[in-house]
Amino acid sequence: MNRAIRSAVQAMSAYIPGEQPEDGGYVKLNQNENPYPPSAKALAAMQAELCKVGVYPESSNRIVREAAAELYGVAPEQVMAVNGSDEMLRILCQSCAGEGDIIAVFTPGFTFYKTLAAVQGANVLSIEFGKDFRLPPLPDLSDVKLIFLPSPHAPSGIAFTPEEIVKLLESAPETALVVIDEAYADFGEWTAIPLLKDYPNLVIVRTLSKSYSMAGLRVGLGIASTEIMSQFDKVRDYYNLDRVAQVGAAAALRDQEYFNANIEKIKATRTRLIKGLKELGACPYESQTNFVLVRLTEYDAEKMYLKLKDRKVLVRYFSTPQIADCLRITVGTDKEIDTLLAEMAAILKEEK
Ligand SMILES: Cc1ncc(COP(=O)(O)O)c(C=O)c1O
Repeated sequence: MNRAIRSAVQAMSAYIPGEQPEDGGYVKLNQNENPYPPSAKALAAMQAELCKVGVYPESSNRIVREAAAELYGVAPEQVMAVNGSDEMLRILCQSCAGEGDIIAVFTPGFTFYKTLAAVQGANVLSIEFGKDFRLPPLPDLSDVKLIFLPSPHAPSGIAFTPEEIVKLLESAPETALVVIDEAYADFGEWTAIPLLKDYPNLVIVRTLSKSYSMAGLRVGLGIASTEIMSQFDKVRDYYNLDRVAQVGAAAALRDQEYFNANIEKIKATRTRLIKGLKELGACPYESQTNFVLVRLTEYDAEKMYLKLKDRKVLVRYFSTPQIADCLRITVGTDKEIDTLLAEMAAILKEEK
């Protein structure tokens, strides 16, 4: 290997995203994508913008930041628009953690945090969840630079209480940033955004991939104090959102009528999915996201994942010890969920 490549990069493993089969025909419930189309207003705005791609986009993503600021009741200077929330997570690591610094993550959790820590050559402090996924007792965090927590939690789907988030914020040293990754918060009951005014070391990360049906457009948001954002802005690619993404994201954020209807449909299907899984004798976690983690008590989870895949239904299986007997299932349309439940029932019946 060419020695120009840092040893930290040579030693690390790549992040493995969910499967994206090229042949169609799958019921795809493995990447927490939204089964409904984006806002028609956003699609029209993007269509109209296409003829302007010969000209560079506005570099601060002003229209997206303004739309988000209005929606969340913060100043536009507190918002950064990014190329998928993945970019915000990367900017956080690049800005805060160097070789040998400590980044705290919760396990199981979103594994990309560990990948980004590895790129920096940072050390990971892993805080383990119990099977209830309540906030575990916290270790000494005094040397930590960044703390990442998805809330609602991924991959369990459970919601933390505001008290749990405040406890984490109070336990973090002033020298650390606490990153609450709200990728799924729109499917839940509350957001930590109002806590920003009391906790200057809080950073909220959001995405339009899930609740706004825009995973393929790659738009995320960071929200924090103006002071913190002005630092991160130096690290961001200066044309990180193309002009089509900018107009699409801004229009989607402003089309709250469509957004709310979309969220209600997902929540209704989520209730049906949880009920159906219980009827099959499985143990789903109560979810505040657009996916459900289900513990299979009487059937091997990996085998179920493989058999479902044979039957053209893709769900997510993780070999992580605490959840190796679980499947994570995206809330699709009612029809997709009916197919999933029928195939699971058929697989269970086959074994009897
Ligand atoms: C918890 C969490 N955070 C962040 C992301 C990244 O989302 P995106 O880069 O599409 O905005 C995901 C994607 O699945 C996620 O599950």
